[in-house]
This record gives sequence, C-alpha cells and structure tokens, in this order.
Amino acid sequence: MSQHTGPARGAFPELKLEKKAPKNAQALLIAAFKGEEGIELPGTSLLKSAALREAYESLIAVGATGKANEVTRIPAPKKAEVDSIIAVGLGDAEDLDAETLRRAAGSAARSISKVEEVATSLGDFGIAPTVEGLILGGYKFQGLRSKPGKDSEQPAAFTVVAEKSAREEFEAAKITAESVVIARDLVNTPSNLLYPESYADFLSAQAKEVGLEVEILDEKALQKQGFGGITAVGRGSARPPRLVRLSWNPKKAKKHVALVGKGITFDTGGISLKPGSGMWDMISDMGGSAAMAASIIAAAKLNLPVKITATLPLAENMPGDNATRPGDVITHYGGITSEVLNTDAEGRLVLADAIARASEDKPDFLIETATLTGAQMVALGGRTAGVMGSEDFRDRMASIGREVGENAWAMPLLEEHDESVKSASADIRNINAKREGGMEYAGTYLKHFVGEGIEWAHIDVAGPSFNTTGAYGYTPKMGTGVPTRTVIAALCEIAESK
Ligand code: BES
Ligand code: MN
Ligand code: ZN
Repeated sequence: MSQHTGPARGAFPELKLEKKAPKNAQALLIAAFKGEEGIELPGTSLLKSAALREAYESLIAVGATGKANEVTRIPAPKKAEVDSIIAVGLGDAEDLDAETLRRAAGSAARSISKVEEVATSLGDFGIAPTVEGLILGGYKFQGLRSKPGKDSEQPAAFTVVAEKSAREEFEAAKITAESVVIARDLVNTPSNLLYPESYADFLSAQAKEVGLEVEILDEKALQKQGFGGITAVGRGSARPPRLVRLSWNPKKAKKHVALVGKGITFDTGGISLKPGSGMWDMISDMGGSAAMAASIIAAAKLNLPVKITATLPLAENMPGDNATRPGDVITHYGGITSEVLNTDAEGRLVLADAIARASEDKPDFLIETATLTGAQMVALGGRTAGVMGSEDFRDRMASIGREVGENAWAMPLLEEHDESVKSASADIRNINAKREGGMEYAGTYLKHFVGEGIEWAHIDVAGPSFNTTGAYGYTPKMGTGVPTRTVIAALCEIAESK
C-alpha cells in the first residue's frame, strides 16, 4: 500500500478567460441584486433578454431575493444552451464592493456540485474578486482517504466571460489565489507528514521551480551559527529544525522586503505541555511560514520588481528528553539572551532568531507573521489579525489587510512591557509575569530583534489563519491562507513605489 507523503493537496476549480461562454458549459453563474421590490437581475451577455426574463420569473417563483451570498439554482430557460442557471446574490447594488463580490463568488463555487463546466458573467462586476472568490471558495481539502469520500468530487471548472483586456488582471488574480491554495494545503497537512525536514524539501522544490534562490540550514549549521532560539525549540523533537531562506532578486528592484513567518510544524507546548483537548489544531502553527512562502512564490510568478528575502524558521515543539526546560537561558542569533519561563511561548523564540538574521541584510521593510498568541483571539476574535510594529508601516499593513478582505487591526506596543520584558537571569524573558496584553507582549519581545531603521510589521494571525468553525464566503474550514493576500498586495504596492 502506498503511504501518504508530503503536503496534502486540496482540489480547486480550474479557471479560463474567454470572450464567450464555451459550447460545453452546463450551467451559467449570474449575478442577482436585492432591490427594494425584490430580486433584480442585471443584464448579461450570457442570456438574451427573453431568457433573462424567464430566469427572473423562475427565481421569483422559488423565493430568491438577491441577498448577499444567496445561491439559487434553477432549470435553464428553454432557449438557453445550458441545463441550469445559478444566481448568486450580491445584495444591494449600491453597496457592492470587491469583498462582497469575492464572498458571493466564493459562496457560489463552494455550493456548486454535480456540474463540470460553468460559464459566469460575475466578472462584469470585477475580474480579480471574481477569480479569487471562485478559486478560494471552490477549494476543497479532501483529507487523506483510502477511498473517495463524499467530498471527493472534482470542483467545477469556470469560464469567466469577459473582454480580452481583462487578461492581465485575470492572470494576476489567478496567481494570487493559487498561492493562497499552497498556503492552505501546507496548513492542512497533518504534522506526521509535514515536519521541518519534509517541509524544507517541499519549499525548496516549489521555490526552485519559480526561479527563487534557496538556502537551507540544518540543525548542525543552526547550532554552529548561533541560532539559539530555533535550536532551543527544536531540540525536544526527534525531527530536527531547519531554517529556510528563499530569495527573489530581480534586476530592476529598488526596495528590499524581508519576510519572516513562524513555522512550528506542531506545537505541543514542549515541557510546558498544552492540554490535550484541541491540541490537534496546532498542526496549523506553521501558517505564518506557509503564507510567507506562498507570497514570495507569487511575487516570482508575478515578476514583481522588488527584492524579497523570506526567512522561515521551522521546528517541532516537543517535550522530548533533550527538550528545553522552563528556566533555561538561551542565546538568540546576534547575542541577546533570554530566560525561557514557558516553553509554550516558542514562536517568539524561533522568530527572534529569524528576525535578527533577516535584519542583517538591511532590508527597507520587514513583514513577519505568526500564529503567535491565543491572546490575539481574545482581543480581536477569530477573523481579525492584530498588527504591531513601526507605527506608519503597521497602520499601512492593517489597512491593506482590510482592503483585500483579510481583516486586520493595528495594536499598540505597550510602554509597561518595556519594563516587564526584563529578566533577572538574562537580557529578556519569554513570558510576561501578568496575563494582560499577551499579544502585545509578544510584539515587544520581537521588537528587540528588528534592526535599526527597518520599517517592520508583526501580524498575529492565530485566529484568522485557521478556521475552526464553519465555512463562509470563500473561507473554508481549517487552513485559510491568511495573510497571504495581504502580503502579496503589500509587495505589489512597494514594487510600484519609488
Ligand atoms: N501557537 C500558540 C498560539 C496559538 C494558540 C495559535 C491557539 C493558535 C491557536 C503559541 O505558541 C502559544 O502557545 N502561545 C501561548 C503563549 C503563552 C504561553 C505566553 C498562548 O497564547 O497561550
Ligand atoms: Mn506554543
Ligand atoms: Zn505556537
């Protein structure tokens, strides 16, 4: 019997851009609005006015209203060359924005089954949100099964019907969405398959395919070069840590952006062991590194004129007999010492080394993201990332997050934490003596490792990167890929700036 190895790949819809609906289309996906007097259907090149009228009557007959994310499938009008029409609600036409469209396209793609070929006119309201919504909403992680299950159906393929001039936007959105899929797949892969070595090998193969430079440090190199944080976290596991460095170095680049992402392939808490219930969610503790790997891969595919270096510390946090003990003092890369009072605050230990290493290259910007604290969810809930860092860049990253539909909110670093981070036995301590401000304390810890003059943002995605409740819009259960689209959007912005 074959064994499952490497990341578990989810299925997602194939998309094409055409001027006309293809002959083999079985269904048309069209937009509906919620008007004052009920459902309204905007004109579409996919249906003649008589057929549109007939579809409208059928939709009224089954009670469709056009409210946002409502998906209604009806038999096709007599003269249409398809079997069915699928109408997706966009809500009030006056309130339509990119995120409403992205979510509606996602809701449609997620609910469509038993159809292979769909043509859609949703692109009339925005190409990129349509493409992203369809791919991300149609994504299905099908698990690792011995036989096909009820979720094993191949997602429908979509033809976005639009003018040729939409090509560039279409391709860029496809690259972006398919990169988010890479991040989701990595997050959804269980930790017996995805561990530092296998993860590093996978990233290396993917990165080389798109022309990135790859450097991997193994446990011996890490120890020799003084990566005390990564070594301290990885030493309790039989599966040793890695530091993966990916770089994109285009000729025309004016700016250099460093990306850093937390890559804990499983977080048991170490000797400060987590409770058993819910511990399985910690397969997602490498979501930050997955998003950063996905982002630099997207940047290469988009051929962005900006230099990017991703520094990804990968380790498994286990309570083995060689594990770090509470009270141990470690030396981070660059020399700062830290008293490890809680081995479950391991993310900041691996990130501190990675941030210090990334800072050596003197980038203009440093963006780091991590599933860092449970406190992030207490403060902001499961869908909104907390952003800390240099004030202007922090605010800019939070607002880019909101613009792309990955909600984010700026959070302060607290002056009192500058005192409480001090330790009696080392330069700093890895946990606060008090519970208050847990997300911000972690931000203060990381601040010590950011090089002078570098604009930095720390994005805590403990909640938003892994959806433990139901699917909605284009967001599935489990890995969401957040904040990949935020980071790609920021890279695009920086690449365009002078
Ligand atoms: N990986 C966790 C944070 C986390 C918790 C992410 C739940 C997603 C869901 C992190 O390593 C951790 O354990 N943080 C501790 C820090 C504490 C010991 C200061 C936490 O938040 O409890
Ligand atoms: Mn932890
Ligand atoms: Zn963790």
